[in-house]
Parts: sequence; structure tokens; C-alpha cells
Amino acid sequence: MIEFLRSEGIDESVLARLEDFRRAYPCTEGSAHRIPHPKFRYYGREIWQKALIALLSGENILLVGPKATGKNVLAENLAAVFGRPAWDISFYLNTDAASLIGTDTFRDGQVSFRQGPVTQCAEQGGFGVLDEINMAKNESLAVLHATLDFRRIIDVPGYDRILLHPATRFIATMNYGYAGTRELNEALASRFMVINMPIVSGENLQKLLLEQHPTLKATWAEQLAGLFEDIRQKCESSEISTKALDLRGLLASVTLVENGLRLGPALEMGLVNKIFDDFERQLVADMIRLRIDGALSAEDLFERT
Ligand SMILES: Nc1ncnc2c1ncn2[C@@H]1O[C@H](COP(=O)(O)OP(=O)(O)OP(=O)(O)O)[C@@H](O)[C@H]1O
Ligand SMILES: [Mg+2]
Repeated sequence: MIEFLRSEGIDESVLARLEDFRRAYPCTEGSAHRIPHPKFRYYGREIWQKALIALLSGENILLVGPKATGKNVLAENLAAVFGRPAWDISFYLNTDAASLIGTDTFRDGQVSFRQGPVTQCAEQGGFGVLDEINMAKNESLAVLHATLDFRRIIDVPGYDRILLHPATRFIATMNYGYAGTRELNEALASRFMVINMPIVSGENLQKLLLEQHPTLKATWAEQLAGLFEDIRQKCESSEISTKALDLRGLLASVTLVENGLRLGPALEMGLVNKIFDDFERQLVADMIRLRIDGALSAEDLFERT
């Protein structure tokens, strides 16, 4: 992974501090199984640089951006490069203090405290991914205030306070614009350094397509990245909504082609059919038709192996 960061152009001074961090906090046997081995790598030098420096400085970070901008991929990649165990904690409307820090349980007639994911992560020097943090009610997150600021503690009512291990960091993600998404209140937002996640660049999209589909022909990586760029421009000029600007859908379409579907129907399933407005759907379908012959299949897109 460090070699990958070097090839992405991350500053040597940052990489040196990352190595120092890893030496200072070698992973213990018990939590080694939680260190991620990412299937995908995150592409984007600027974002890497910001995230690494913030975490090395002891800050927690909040990744904000539209769907499929690699927020979870980056969070997982970060735990991997820091060599830390990761906890994935999904937030939803009913997330409450107990589900985060833990709760009393009865075992063999005795009351004992069963740790929640935030508490486990805090004690073991983990990287806690607070996924879709804005989905929860702000009031139920007040319990995290002392955890996320300089106090670095968890105060469990009726028990000792738990001090955060010095390697513990929290990486929150949040989407905006979806139905049901809420704003994060100021008190919570104030406890993070915030990184706005961009839509992947055309050049990085080509790298990404070739990483996920090594036998995809380079000309097709370019064509598909071009198509995505077309859709992005139409979104930016507000001609269409962002429903079809779905990288996840594009990547899945390529997999469907690899598995035997023709390109037209695959892109329809991955991109076009996500739009429920007739006029807009037609517009996107036409854009695709202009660039791409829908009858093409795996034989055309992939190198024979
Ligand atoms: N810059 C990028 N580098 C690498 N992969 C990316 C990038 N941007 C998007 N992706 C790809 O997009 C897909 C979705 O990534 P991920 O699940 O991390 O997105 P997300 O931002 O968490 O989305 P959501 O808000 O919908 O949860 C993955 O296949 C990922 O590889
Ligand atoms: Mg996500």
C-alpha cells in the first residue's frame, strides 16, 4: 500500500510520518484480523494527502460527498495504510447511545457491561468508520462529543471512563441530497476536519476501470470514462439530475458485460433505469447511443485471455 501511495505522488515527508506511526503502534495479535485488505484502491492524490495529514495530526475526519465517490473505499484504505483494525458502524434513525458504546446485559444472573463497537474501537486503537453519520438523530450522538474532541474519552454511566488508545481515529461519512438525509449539527461537525469528496476524474476512472477489470481494452476504459464525463457535464449544467451519475452502476454494468450481457442492456440496468422521469431517461439513453453501440459484447470490450 505504501508503494501505491508513493506512485500516487504522496509527499515523502508524509509517508515517513506514516511509517513512524505504524512503528509506534504495531498491531496486536488480538485485533489483527480486523485490519482491512482492501479489494479496491482509492484514486485521488489531493484527497489522500488531506486525509493522511489530518489523521497523522490526530484529527478525526468527515468525508462528505455524493453517492459512489469512494467514501467507504477511502475509509477502508486509510485503516489499511495505517495498519489499524477497523470497525464499520452504520448509523440509522434509531441509533442510540447504547448501540454505540454498549449496554448492560444479564449473564448467569449477573449484570455485566457488553461493549459496543465505539468502545471496542476506542480501546483497541481502531479506526472507527461512522458510516452515514447524518442518518442518526443528532441528540443521540451527543454521547460521542467527549470521544471526538480533545478529551478522547468515553464516559459510560455507572462505569469507569474509558480513555481512547492514542492510535484511535474516527472517520465519518455522509451523503447529502438523498431523501431522508439530515444536516449534521454544528457541535458534531466541529469535531471533524471535513473533506469534500469529488466525483472521480476521467483519468482516475480509467485507472479504476482497468484495476477492477484487468482485461478491459484500454480504448474501452477511455470510452466509458468519456461517457461518464458526458453525464457529469449534463448534471453540472443542470440539464439532468444526478441519478444517472452513478459510478457504482457503471462499474456493475461492465461486470454484466463481462458475464455475457450486451453493453446496451447492461448500461440500461446500471444507469438509465435509475431515472424515473421519462424525458430525462430518454436524454441519457440518447447520450449513450451517440457514443456507444449497444450491441457490443464481451468479445469487443475485453482482451481474449
Ligand atoms: N476516487 C475513487 N477511487 C477509487 N474508487 C472509487 C473512487 N470513486 C468512486 N469509486 C468507486 O465507487 C464505488 C463506490 O464506492 P463507495 O462505496 O466507497 O462510495 P460511497 O462514497 O461510500 O457511496 P455512498 O454515498 O453511496 O455510500 C466503488 O466501486 C469504488 O471503487
Ligand atoms: Mg458509503
